[in-house]
Amino acid sequence: MQAKWHDAAGRPPEWDVPDVLTVAAHAAEHDFHPAWPDGRSHHTHLRVHPQMVVENAVDPHHFRFVHGTELSPVILEEIVDGPSWWARVGFGRGWAKHPCDADGALRTDTMNTIELLWSGMGISANIEHTRDGIRIITINPTPVEDGRTELFATYWLSRTDGDLADGGYRRRLDEAKLALPDDIRIWDNQIFLEPPGLATQEAAGFRRMRHWTRQFYPTGRTGLREPEPSV
Ligand SMILES: [Fe+2]
Repeated sequence: MQAKWHDAAGRPPEWDVPDVLTVAAHAAEHDFHPAWPDGRSHHTHLRVHPQMVVENAVDPHHFRFVHGTELSPVILEEIVDGPSWWARVGFGRGWAKHPCDADGALRTDTMNTIELLWSGMGISANIEHTRDGIRIITINPTPVEDGRTELFATYWLSRTDGDLADGGYRRRLDEAKLALPDDIRIWDNQIFLEPPGLATQEAAGFRRMRHWTRQFYPTGRTGLREPEPSV
């Protein structure tokens, strides 16, 4: 299939998209159920500003209050490299109490963690290691006209024993699909503010993310149109 590409300034693509199934070493060891046809969703007619989708990654407390996790996750690592932004967060009491080893080195186990990857502002992957296996969710916001966005999501679940025998795949897929509609309900009613109104505790992460995304706006000014010329 021919890939379609549009750049407002007519430039060619500047970087390759990641292979989300192999970008995390511990996930690459697994075999995955195909995402087609049931492991995908397409959400249209949204007024979601793409910036809101990206900033979701640096909003640890929304996991607790929107998605119902017991605790807010702990951000363990965050790496920015040109058009890529990556972070690893840990969930649960183990991470909350012991985010680091005694010697200060970051723990390397992956259980109860999510790796969050953004490649530009159009491609994201959440790579989650749960007791049920690995699940990878991609969320791709695509602006289609001024003030309108569509969201494409795919759900990749690692193959585990008993998936087909006891309906486990369907259960895991249904669970994986629960979170995004809750996010969309909020994103679709958020108003973009520059600068954002932030609580002190979470301001640094949002500011870092907004600084990183500035490179993707043609004007270099996050999400703002050029002002109308005065007459
Ligand atoms: Fe979320």
